Amino acid sequence: MRTQVGIVGAGPAGLLLSHLLDLEGIESVVLEDRSREYVENRVRAGVLEQGTVELLTDTGLGDRLHREALVHRGLELRFDGEGHRIDLSGLTDGRTITIYGQQEVVKDLIAARLGAGGDIRFEVEDVALDGLTTDVPSIAFTHDGERHTLECAVVAGCDGFHGICRKAIPDGVLTAYDRTYPFGWLGILARVGPSSDELVYTNHERGFSLLSVRSPEVCRMYLQCEPDEDIGEWSDDRIWDELHTRTATRNGDFTLKEGPIFEKGVAALRSFVVEPMQHGRLFLAGDAAHIVPATGAKGLNLAVADVRRLSEALARFFGSGDTDLLEGYSDACLRRVWRVQHFSWWMTSMMHRFDDHDDFQRQVQRSELAYVTSSRAAATALAENYVGLPIATLEAG
Ligand code: FAD
Ligand code: PHB
Repeated sequence: MRTQVGIVGAGPAGLLLSHLLDLEGIESVVLEDRSREYVENRVRAGVLEQGTVELLTDTGLGDRLHREALVHRGLELRFDGEGHRIDLSGLTDGRTITIYGQQEVVKDLIAARLGAGGDIRFEVEDVALDGLTTDVPSIAFTHDGERHTLECAVVAGCDGFHGICRKAIPDGVLTAYDRTYPFGWLGILARVGPSSDELVYTNHERGFSLLSVRSPEVCRMYLQCEPDEDIGEWSDDRIWDELHTRTATRNGDFTLKEGPIFEKGVAALRSFVVEPMQHGRLFLAGDAAHIVPATGAKGLNLAVADVRRLSEALARFFGSGDTDLLEGYSDACLRRVWRVQHFSWWMTSMMHRFDDHDDFQRQVQRSELAYVTSSRAAATALAENYVGLPIATLEAG
């Protein structure tokens, strides 16, 4: 088997890359170790930056998104029992964020690729890379019990944090930067309308909570928990009690609506980057190269920005043989990655409960919250990062 770009992973990064390459007339094959049903139903992120929505719209993926997604112009930071609105649009010349579940983006991408005759192999096993520093790298894999070798010009490692592509790079090539946090998020989906028109991020003495939404009938909510929290310990009643406690306002003007919970899970929070995002003909994109804690709502948007850049570089490479953009891929992406790392770390530090005995940290955190919600300059810094800084600003050297 031969193709131009062999893509490992059918998450948002791999699928969107395949779609963008197709629009440039470049062939690809996507190899995914899970089933189509599994990847279409995996519940993860929900916030799309305006730039992400524009890219999806401009490349023909906007129909269902524009029918079903919810556009938000602000968010609330709640602490000491009081809510403070951050006017995202007012502080960023009218920019907005869009709420549309990651699995909906994935469904739209799979439908678009298969509709255009794209080649996605689900449930492949034992994926292994070879010849990465040659002009003909290859990907070996087993599908339907048969071993295959896919020869390519370029391999895109879009297989997430636990994938094999990053690990295929020899020791000593990559520098890794890693930070784990002493907490995780317990996330639920509930069949109930939103209790607030906008997302509510709460800093509470019992821990962070977040009220988000998926549709007028479905809400997504999170509670700070232990990183290795046993979800079995969390009955629906316990989850609602904790959400009520953490989101309550001092004057009692907020009512959290309850509904049947139909999805529960725990995710650890982590900051992680490898440099460079390339080795020979292997290019890493999305979570394969970096992870951000979800407090900044950036993981999916970063994956999209990576593959936008990679598709442009590959179009140049296959069009004219010019490798300039490919060689600059890692540096350009990493400039954006580090900006987003800082923002996600900062939001995480400001919103969560840390060590109970560290009174200094707690006081500094309260001062920061007071500042962000009272100073236009500080609120603008939050807003412009949250809606997404322009690619040109972020990637310029
Ligand atoms: P992924 O979505 O991880 O896709 C990688 C794909 O590669 C997967 O389909 C995987 O099955 C496949 N794969 C892995 N190994 C192999 C292999 N060996 N061979 C073939 N295929 C392979 N971000 C937010 O902004 N907000 C959130 O609330 C949020 N929640 C999250 C919850 C969880 C549990 C996780 C893990 C992430 C969450 N994120 C969140 C981050 C966000 O979802 C990711 O940044 C985004 O999924 C990155 O897309 P990706 O395509 O790079 O990676
Ligand atoms: C979500 O809706 O899943 C969501 C929203 C905001 C975040 C993280 C997750 O910061």
